[in-house]
Amino acid sequence: MPVDAYQKSTSVHSFTCEDLEVTLFGAAGAAIILQDINLHVAKGEFVSVLGPSGSGKTTLLRVLGGLQEKSGGTVRSAGAPVDGPPADVVTVFQDYSHSLLPWRSVRRNVALGIESKLSKPECAKRVADALAMVGLEDSADEYPWRLSGGMQQRVQIARALAMRPSVLLMDEPFGALDAMTKASLQDQLQRVQELTGTTVVFVTHDVEEAVYLSNRVIVLEGRPAGIGLDLAIGLPSPRDQITTKESPEYLALRHRVYEALGHGGRHA
Ligand SMILES: Nc1ncnc2c1ncn2[C@@H]1O[C@H](COP(=O)(O)OP(=O)(O)OP(=O)(O)O)[C@@H](O)[C@H]1O
Ligand SMILES: [Mg+2]
Repeated sequence: MPVDAYQKSTSVHSFTCEDLEVTLFGAAGAAIILQDINLHVAKGEFVSVLGPSGSGKTTLLRVLGGLQEKSGGTVRSAGAPVDGPPADVVTVFQDYSHSLLPWRSVRRNVALGIESKLSKPECAKRVADALAMVGLEDSADEYPWRLSGGMQQRVQIARALAMRPSVLLMDEPFGALDAMTKASLQDQLQRVQELTGTTVVFVTHDVEEAVYLSNRVIVLEGRPAGIGLDLAIGLPSPRDQITTKESPEYLALRHRVYEALGHGGRHA
């Protein structure tokens, strides 16, 4: 894989939120969803965001991706204010079945974000590299509807990787998958992220997944939500599904995250 070329093509990317506040307007009127969010995501960092359903995880991701306006504070990406989708930031949504085009082959789905910007040979090479990264090189000529859910999700991830983003924003990307497929995609993502140095902000409900993959775990709590826990995950890399998850350090970190989510003691 041309990792050097990948790294050269990316620019420095980080996020800084200061006193971020987000207000959304629903049937009951305006509601402050996020308040006093102070967060720095460094270049190349893998940060997971956890929190109860409805706490504002997707909203936070949308703000970072320039898809949602804030009502207070500042959000900067690589030092510049975020006031629309930054060029180098790609979002992977949870619902992959609706984001793939059924009439396009896997290869042409992966090419979607780059085909109008690159020459044909360059585009083909990027697509082949991205498919290899997620282990789908043998399915390039298939159609998405002939693939399993896990494979379809890998196509969506390959499409994001083909754009060679500096930042990947992922909203419960493995939420709907079985445990085996999930573990395999976690390891592929871990490998690709280490190779490319991509910054990842990863929303999940899965505490084990968050601790296993991340350099840092953030837990949203309260209403409006603020950051209840900001925990560095200093586990050595590369991580391993069996040995990492058996280590006392991993278990202690997992315990702290469960506690922050209100499941301490009995359930942790
Ligand atoms: N367009 C909208 N207008 C008004 N309120 C909204 C809108 N979208 C979301 N909300 C509200 O904002 C809050 C946060 O929603 P968000 O989708 O960010 O939560 P979440 O943490 O991602 O939840 P989940 O884990 O269920 O995906 C919720 O209370 C939701 O009802
Ligand atoms: Mg959500």
